[in-house]
Amino acid sequence: MGPFLNRVLDWAGDRYYGISTRGYLSREELGSAPDCGSYSPTPHRVLRLLLRHVPSHLARNGILLDYGSGLGRALVVASRSYQFRRVIGVECSESLCRKAMANLKAAHVRNALVVCANAQEFEIPPGVTVFFMFNPFLGEVLRIVCERIAAHRRPFAIAVCNYDNFEAAIAPYTRLERTSNGVFENVSWAVYVAD
Ligand SMILES: C[S@@+](CC[C@H](N)C(=O)[O-])C[C@H]1O[C@@H](n2cnc3c(N)ncnc32)[C@H](O)[C@@H]1O
Repeated sequence: MGPFLNRVLDWAGDRYYGISTRGYLSREELGSAPDCGSYSPTPHRVLRLLLRHVPSHLARNGILLDYGSGLGRALVVASRSYQFRRVIGVECSESLCRKAMANLKAAHVRNALVVCANAQEFEIPPGVTVFFMFNPFLGEVLRIVCERIAAHRRPFAIAVCNYDNFEAAIAPYTRLERTSNGVFENVSWAVYVAD
């Protein structure tokens, strides 16, 4: 029932916002650099679960940065259904960036910015209060991104899936308080707060 329900809810979620973000694309299909990962959207249920656990004072009027923003699903949901002042996506695939912008327009999102860049070269803008990551990358890219996050001005929250990799990557740079975590339909998730 779980996977079937997820597929139905993903279809319904995209339809609700008027966007098209479903599907899977390998790095080869995307033509991305070797240190970029594949594309699959954050399931709508996982997205809501994670955003619900972000402290409201960091979401309200805050800025969300989605590392590996793909077709823009997390940006659309964060902008339309939560109270972020601004949402920013960093995505290395040019074709996904173009389609994400079309999705944002279709969803009438006016406070979003999509930056087409490799996350490891992207300088975090001041004021980001929530970092979001749904399996974007591993290895050296994740290490560099964690180093940048650790140096970012507090307070901020980080919402991640498959958090084992993230915890190992950020541990050398800073200590974070994991405020909530769980496993949902085989996806492990966690929210951290740096005060
Ligand atoms: C699993 S998808 C996440 C989708 C998106 N966050 C969402 O909510 O639907 C991971 C995305 O990260 C992008 N990506 C992978 N490596 C990257 C890198 N080094 N820099 C920027 N984007 C990257 C991929 O192209 C892909 O679109």
